[in-house]
Amino acid sequence: LFARGAEFLKGVVAMDGLPPGDRAEVCFAGRSNVGKSSLINALTGRKGLARASNTPGRTQEINFFTLGESHYIVDLPGYGYANAPLPVVEKWQRLLKQYLSGRANLRRAFVLIDARHGIKSVDEDILSRLDQSAVTFQAVLTKADKIKPSERDKVLDQVRTKLATHPAAYPEIVLTSAEKGDGITELRTIIAGLG
Ligand code: GTP
Ligand code: MG
Repeated sequence: LFARGAEFLKGVVAMDGLPPGDRAEVCFAGRSNVGKSSLINALTGRKGLARASNTPGRTQEINFFTLGESHYIVDLPGYGYANAPLPVVEKWQRLLKQYLSGRANLRRAFVLIDARHGIKSVDEDILSRLDQSAVTFQAVLTKADKIKPSERDKVLDQVRTKLATHPAAYPEIVLTSAEKGDGITELRTIIAGLG
């Protein structure tokens, strides 16, 4: 599937801009700066496909990418970025909730969690939303290259414990590094299996 290539399709700022739900879809959600765009670039093997940056809140639209002829990959705006003006934050939160609640072809949401920090209270909103919408979500730890194995195991325990309280959570956690390539093959296989 990934060998068939990925292309940017469109950035969406309102529900009526969503492309038709005619392909299997997976989305990437997570705090600002957690590494969503970088992970999409690593998965697709295209460095500049989803923009990645040092400035939190860089991705401000729901960005759709086509993957082969059968899938959409969706890069969601990051949440928990305190410096954005409140009306902007509220607009994105509303759009995010609408999208996550009403997308029939959405097969799985990957919720990205910084491997150094684990699940934080800002993540809980979206996890509850996914529970309510019965969208299966899978936790993906990012920036694995930045932690020691002992730290990693502690965070994995924390994430496992939290996931157990969410009915929509898929139990398997994927550990990734967009920088070093850890977990990329595994994640590609998971996505390809979500037909
Ligand atoms: P928003 O679009 O603002 O929500 O951010 P994002 O979640 O898309 O994060 P982005 O991919 O832009 O990455 C944020 C920063 O983290 C960038 O400086 C990346 O280079 C860095 N980063 C992302 N993934 C990794 C990783 O696996 N390892 C390391 N060391 N840094 C990473
Ligand atoms: Mg981004």
